[in-house]
Amino acid sequence: MRMRHKYRKSSAFHCNAGSPCALLAVVWSLVACTLMVQFYCYTRHDDKVEHPIRLNHRPLTRELEEVEEENFQMPPPRGKRSPRAIKRRGPRRPPSAIDEFLDESSELRNFFFPDRRTAIDPFKEGNNSMYFYPGQQWLDTDGNPIQAHGGGLLYDENSETYYWYGENKDGPTYQAHSGGAARVDIIGVSCYSSSDLWTWKNEGVVLPGEEMNDTHDLYKLNVLERPKVIHNDKTGQYVMWMHIDDVNYTKASVGVAVSDSPSGPFEYLYSKRPHGFESRDMTIFKDDDGKAYLVYSSEDNSELHISSLTEDYLDISQPMRRILIGQHREAPALFKHQGVYYMVTSGCTGWAPNRALAHASESIMGPWETMGNPCVGGNRIFRMTTFFSQSTFVVPLPGLPNSFIFMADRWNPAELRDSRYVWLPLTVGGPVDEPLEYNFGFPVWSRVSVFWHRKWKLPDGWRIR
Ligand code: GAL
Repeated sequence: MRMRHKYRKSSAFHCNAGSPCALLAVVWSLVACTLMVQFYCYTRHDDKVEHPIRLNHRPLTRELEEVEEENFQMPPPRGKRSPRAIKRRGPRRPPSAIDEFLDESSELRNFFFPDRRTAIDPFKEGNNSMYFYPGQQWLDTDGNPIQAHGGGLLYDENSETYYWYGENKDGPTYQAHSGGAARVDIIGVSCYSSSDLWTWKNEGVVLPGEEMNDTHDLYKLNVLERPKVIHNDKTGQYVMWMHIDDVNYTKASVGVAVSDSPSGPFEYLYSKRPHGFESRDMTIFKDDDGKAYLVYSSEDNSELHISSLTEDYLDISQPMRRILIGQHREAPALFKHQGVYYMVTSGCTGWAPNRALAHASESIMGPWETMGNPCVGGNRIFRMTTFFSQSTFVVPLPGLPNSFIFMADRWNPAELRDSRYVWLPLTVGGPVDEPLEYNFGFPVWSRVSVFWHRKWKLPDGWRIR
C-alpha cells in the first residue's frame, strides 16, 4: 500500500511538461488505460462464458444483497417508563431509539425482543426451515434457547461439523454494585454443533465456571466473555481463548483453555495480560498458513493490539502491533478475503448498541484502514446501531463467492440470558465509502457490506465445501 502511494505521488508532483519524465507519465497512462480496457473485457467475458460456477452463484447471492427497509414508529413520549430508563435518560430529554431499546417497559420491547411465539424452532418450522430471523429467539434441538453469546464458530474438518462456542448467560441478571454494568455469574462456555448452520445440537458446557474456589479465574463472580476456538493442525488440539476479568473489569486479561475434542471438555490453563497490556474484548484468527493471532482492545479500549500466537497457539509471541490507535473500537471480528484482511468492530458503549465500522489491511499487522459503516438497509437508526447489535464473529462460506455470515449479539441488559443473535449476510465487493484510494483507476479497498433482512436463508444450492 505505502509503496503504491509513494509511486503515485512522486510521478505526479515532480514532472515538467515536455520533460522525459512527462513522456513516461503519458506512456504509463496509456498502459494503464489498456490494462483497464482489457480488465473490463475480461470481466465481461468472464461473466458470460468462462466460469459457469460463478454464473450459477450470481442469482444465489443476489437475494442476500437486496436492500430491505425496516420501519418502526417511536411510541408517543407519554406512557409508562421504568424508573431505570428515566434515571438513564434524565426526566426531560425525549427518548431516543436506543433509550427505547434499553427500556424494558418500552412499547417497542416486543419489536426488539419478540417473544417465544416467534422463536426459530428447528422441529416446528416446516416451510420456514433454514430461515434465519435476526433478533428472534433461536431454539436448539432440545427446544431450549441457544446460550452462546459473544461467540464464534469453528468448522471442524475432521468431523465436517460446525461448532458454535459462546457465553452461557442462563442465570439471573444483576448489578454487582450501583452504577456497575449488568452481569450474569459465570456459568461457562457453551458449545453447539451443526452441519447446516441452522439446526444446533447442544453439546453442553465445555468449560464450566468455578463455583467454590474464589481464587480461580473462572470463579462465578468474575467475568468470562467472547470465547473463540481454533484448531491447531500440528498438535491436533482445539485451543480456546477468552476475555477473563474481575467484576469491575480491572483485571483485563486473556485466558487460554485446551481440549483434544471440539466438543470438550476444555482444560483451563491460565490467564495473562498480553505483552503486559490490558486486554478486554478480543478474538483470535487462524490464517491460511496456519499462523494464528490474538486481537484485543487495550489501553482503556482506546486502541486494538494484534499479536502473533506461538506455534502451539497456547501463548502469545512477537510481533505485536498497536492498530486503530485512538479510535476506541472493540468487539473485533476478523476475516480474510482474496488475500486482504478485514475486520468489523463496534464502538465502546457497554451493552448499548452503536455504529459498526469495517477496516481492511493488506497485512494482518497493519497498517489498517477504516472504511466506514458496513451496514446496509433497515433504516438509519438500524444502520447507526448495527441493527441494534454488536459484532462478534464473521463466518467464511467457502461455497459462496465473496460471501460470509456476520454474527452479532443483540444484548438485552435487563435480562442478559434473553440476548438475541443477529446473523446477516456479509459480502465483500464494490468501492468503499472511505478512504477512496485508487490504484490505476481501481479502488484499492473493497466495500464490506452487511445487509439487513428480517428473514433470510443461505441459497438452496449452498454447500459447506
Ligand atoms: C461491552 C463488551 C461486552 C461486555 C459489555 C459489558 O462493551 O463488548 O463483551 O464486556 O461491554 O458491559
